[in-house]
Amino acid sequence: MTDGAGDVGKVRGWVRAARRIVVLSGAGMSAESGVPTFRDAQTGLWAKFRPEDLATEDAFRADPKMVWDWYAMRRAMVAKVEPNAGHRAIAAFQQRHPGRLTVATQNVDGLHQHAGSPGVLALHGNIAEDTWLEAPRACCTDANLLPGTPPRCAVCGNLRRPAVVWFGETLPPEVLQAAQDAALASQLMLVVGTSGVVYPAAGLARATPGRVVVINPQASDLDAVADAVLRGGAAVLLPQLLEEHP
Ligand code: OAD
Repeated sequence: MTDGAGDVGKVRGWVRAARRIVVLSGAGMSAESGVPTFRDAQTGLWAKFRPEDLATEDAFRADPKMVWDWYAMRRAMVAKVEPNAGHRAIAAFQQRHPGRLTVATQNVDGLHQHAGSPGVLALHGNIAEDTWLEAPRACCTDANLLPGTPPRCAVCGNLRRPAVVWFGETLPPEVLQAAQDAALASQLMLVVGTSGVVYPAAGLARATPGRVVVINPQASDLDAVADAVLRGGAAVLLPQLLEEHP
């Protein structure tokens, strides 16, 4: 457990000493931006659904419009929020120390990118982007795109789908490999705002040879592998850890 300021001071020392740092972030990273965390996001007309029942290829094939509308609601919500002080502290650190800190995120909200972080490894994709449901054919081009919910190819009927990793799907291999490489080359991993229950993302914290620091107001599955646990919010703690006070 943390004793508050003492542990923050200790971890600040680890940040200064680390040549390579990885930030592994989850939904809690965006909580202070007003984005509900993944596991408590289902409200209103979507309350009767579990994300696990909507964010799957089977659900999309069974009812493309319903799943497309769910993502449209989430896209509208994400479009209204801004990066918080935690996202900005990470981006500012990367600006001051090019190449020293890598962000690997489970979030699809694009807020690290919006805050200016370069080279974000979006393990679960990006909700603002679309891809094709079936492997695209020569006819599947923007010119042949028929608007709709979802849009489709006017020639072959191939559907557009959100460019996010659905349950049961594999992560983009090159992104996962880059995250694994960054973890193995790091001396410090800050695990921010994740319950740590979804693999292979959570596995990065177990594979890294360096120190692990969990930043989370609640207990998480990765506390057990942490060298320090800081009980608090990302937008409060990350500026304390990353800003170089005079
Ligand atoms: P969860 O909703 O499982 O966990 C969010 C974590 O953030 C919890 O442990 C909260 O305690 C913590 N938290 C809440 N507010 C916070 C704050 N202000 N600062 C720091 N932490 C805070 O979301 P994830 O762990 O990100 O995968 O979920 C991982 C994956 O599970 C998601 O990417 C999604 C889902 O399956 C896919 O969609 C493939």
